[in-house]
Amino acid sequence: MPTSDPISIEFPTRRRGQLSPPDEYAELRARPGLVKSALPNGSTVWLVTRHEDVRTVLTDPRISASPTHPGFPTIGRNGTVPHPDQIPGWFVAYDPPDHTRFRKALIPEFTVRRVGELRPAVQRIVDGRIDAMLAGGTTADLVAAFALPVPSLIICELLGVPRTDRELFESRTQVLVTFTSTDDERDAAAQDLLLYINKLIAMKQRFPGRDLTSRLLRAGVLTPKEISGVALLLLIAGHETTANNIALGVVMLLLNRQWINAPGVVEEVLRYLSVADRVALRVAVEDVEIGGQLIRAGEGIVPLGASANHDEGTFGHAEQFDPSRSARHHVAFGYGVHQCLGQNLVRIEMDTVFGTLFRRIPTLELDQAVEDLPFKYDGVLFGLHALPVRW
Ligand code: HEM
Repeated sequence: MPTSDPISIEFPTRRRGQLSPPDEYAELRARPGLVKSALPNGSTVWLVTRHEDVRTVLTDPRISASPTHPGFPTIGRNGTVPHPDQIPGWFVAYDPPDHTRFRKALIPEFTVRRVGELRPAVQRIVDGRIDAMLAGGTTADLVAAFALPVPSLIICELLGVPRTDRELFESRTQVLVTFTSTDDERDAAAQDLLLYINKLIAMKQRFPGRDLTSRLLRAGVLTPKEISGVALLLLIAGHETTANNIALGVVMLLLNRQWINAPGVVEEVLRYLSVADRVALRVAVEDVEIGGQLIRAGEGIVPLGASANHDEGTFGHAEQFDPSRSARHHVAFGYGVHQCLGQNLVRIEMDTVFGTLFRRIPTLELDQAVEDLPFKYDGVLFGLHALPVRW
């Protein structure tokens, strides 16, 4: 079996080609076995780079998603909320069977049919933000004016947050994703949101509506405390992930205008950009062999989604942005039991956004050269701090 000294790769890894994955990934994929890498905090992890190996890691029951196990990787400040242990219901960090109870309770809320019912609301929210941008002049920061508020407002819709409270909700979530926020500001914003969500739950207990929060309360499978953790998870999991795909997707389409109305755009944007590249962190809880490499119990594993999604063995001419390909088997939403619960909603959001934005603002263009855009290399997710546009 291949053994090697750990190599150091920069985390978060910079994308030198702006939108395409870090150059190192192709080199790492070409190495046999897995690659042992030293993280900035001095610990070592196994990097998994090939599509097949990433899917194996994300489905093997000897590999855990729970940070409570020793050896679980930490890459920088990992997320924007208090430690998952402190939030009952933060089920992305649970393994089966604990995880299964949450997943089963949530699946009916995210079927194609159920999220399809949100389509008119999604359209209204997207149109509303475009109206506001058009009313504000002929330039905007598309991140602040559009990409961040749209997913946040849609989650408000999903959870049943009353319109009058949406500003508070939106302002607090903005703090969580703004890079200039200090850790203290982020913690305070997360606490405020949790307090607000608890108030929302108390309100829905008294006055139930036709929203996810009310339905979960009525079903009685999860406790109100767990529902509040679930709500916070949905909010955080579904906000910046979607926002970054919207903003970067707009850049991709402005650079490749011939694809604007192509049916495969959403899937190809998700694959190509893979913004949640290193989100699905794992640790082995038993010895396990992956890609010909023995991983010992207690060793951390980082499956690199962007690398898997650019694996030439799976996606021909992977470096090309080509919406005519079939990209559905990408792992931009992860894979296995934790595969993104919100993916059907994301597809509706991105489809509505791209379909509406370029139709309503056909003269939309970048107001800054692509190489000068403030890319977010320093966050948990790949994205843009701002996107100056004009029309
Ligand atoms: C899980 C990506 C949007 C809710 C995940 C995972 C990834 C991901 C990679 C797997 C994490 C892991 O295995 O550890 C994305 C991307 C999105 C997006 C790229 C946007 C383009 C959303 C939205 C929601 C959502 C809009 C909900 C409103 C969740 C939840 C989980 C999850 C609840 C945990 C599922 C579980 O543990 O069973 N997402 N996500 N995501 N996502 Fe998403």
